[in-house]
Amino acid sequence: MGCAGQKEWWSGTLPTQIHDKQGRLIHVRAYEDKDFEGLKEMYDTFEPKGLESGLPPPDDQVRLRWLHYMISDLCNILAIHKNQPVGHTALDLSCTPSCPEYLIFIRKGFRDCGVGTTLSTLMKAIAKESGCEKVVVTVRAANTRAIRVFEKVGFVLCGGIDRDRDMELCLRPRRTTRPRACKK
Ligand SMILES: CC(C)(COP(=O)(O)OP(=O)(O)OC[C@H]1O[C@@H](n2cnc3c(N)ncnc32)[C@H](O)[C@@H]1OP(=O)(O)O)[C@@H](O)C(=O)NCCC(=O)NCCS
Repeated sequence: MGCAGQKEWWSGTLPTQIHDKQGRLIHVRAYEDKDFEGLKEMYDTFEPKGLESGLPPPDDQVRLRWLHYMISDLCNILAIHKNQPVGHTALDLSCTPSCPEYLIFIRKGFRDCGVGTTLSTLMKAIAKESGCEKVVVTVRAANTRAIRVFEKVGFVLCGGIDRDRDMELCLRPRRTTRPRACKK
């Protein structure tokens, strides 16, 4: 996994568990090799697929390459219910302080139950701990649920108004007051 750092990138944050809004027990932890088949199945059956921003590729071979890219190059967190992945989020932490696109997918039947917010909050903490200054995401303007989740964790809309909207999450502490002069 292409996650830089001397300690594990998730240490101190994962594993954890939550009860979703339907009361289901969801385990949240870093991706492991044994999760591959379950995650592949989640994406093979994922709806909607699409060529537009951030959705899993519809073509089987392209989707398989996309999945291999994520699990080998990115930091991946899974939400797991009864040993089955029901949510996945990924971020490239290998090139901090800048961080490219944030990816998040929740299986149908588990959406709108708080899992996406939980994963996004955890990924934000991990990105910050890893020294990321900024995380970006591109989202369809019509995907108001995703925009709501991203805004809840601190992303703000930026750039022009279009079919796709760019959002960014600034993790660098902003200095609001001028530093006081040192008194000896
Ligand atoms: C977008 C997605 C990641 C969100 O995760 P989730 O687990 O469904 O989201 P949560 O349940 O944590 O939170 C949903 C929030 O949006 C709100 N919401 C639900 N439907 C909404 C809508 N149509 N418009 C605006 N807000 C909406 C909910 O009320 C909730 O907010 P609240 O907790 O303040 O009440 C998930 O639905 C998903 O994977 N969708 C398909 C793939 C996708 O769009 N990925 C993102 C690509 S950038």
